[in-house]
Amino acid sequence: MALENKLGMTDSAELARQEEKISKKKALMMFETDFFDSLKAGSFSALAAIHRYLFEDIYEFAGKVRDVNLAKGNFRFAPLMYLDEALKNIEKMPQSNFDEIIEKYVEMNIAHPFRDGNGRSTRIWLDNILKTELGQVIDCSRVDKDDYLLAMERSPIKDIEIKYILKNALTDKINDRDVYMKGIDNSYYYEGYSYYSIASLTQAVKLCANN
Ligand SMILES: Nc1ncnc2c1ncn2[C@@H]1O[C@H](COP(=O)(O)OP(=O)(O)OP(=O)(O)O)[C@@H](O)[C@H]1O
Ligand SMILES: [Mg+2]
Repeated sequence: MALENKLGMTDSAELARQEEKISKKKALMMFETDFFDSLKAGSFSALAAIHRYLFEDIYEFAGKVRDVNLAKGNFRFAPLMYLDEALKNIEKMPQSNFDEIIEKYVEMNIAHPFRDGNGRSTRIWLDNILKTELGQVIDCSRVDKDDYLLAMERSPIKDIEIKYILKNALTDKINDRDVYMKGIDNSYYYEGYSYYSIASLTQAVKLCANN
């Protein structure tokens, strides 16, 4: 059964495809507008704004802190009881160098503030911090899916692997559209969404504009 959604869809595979299509277009619009300029990098409100923008046409819960407990594999994300407090503390964590930024990202992943869409929105939030603080972003096309997911699974206990993997994928091509688009496609691929490439969706947008 599909998550309750604004599209009135009940089939989860069909919902996943629509979600991918709609939110990938939004991800591209983020890049092509001044969306990021208004965000305070590293704040929870920045993450909520990213999540809201990506998913507002699909889910009522876009940009809103979840009201259920979440687990994945053997790991339970922050219990609801502590979630608001955790988000306040994470926001205060320093972000002046690479290690601090990844430590903050790891904590935000442990918080997993939303009902769904945490992986994808939090990676955009991470890139926004890296770009603002260090003038670099992650080139996701250089990050292997299985290595990444395993390192994230281990990250609550030991963050050395995720630091190593992400450090090796840093690039200073922060305004490169290709790097951004490949990054979004890869980020979606990590979560099992690979039906549409973002490039094919921009073609569709261009064709519409020309007509
Ligand atoms: N066992 C785990 N322990 C800690 N973190 C994990 C674990 N498994 C996955 N993650 C992290 O959580 C992210 C997304 O996981 P999850 O599928 O729970 O989120 P989501 O809210 O469904 O996000 P999305 O819809 O973007 O996939 C992964 O990209 C990874 O960074
Ligand atoms: Mg999900």
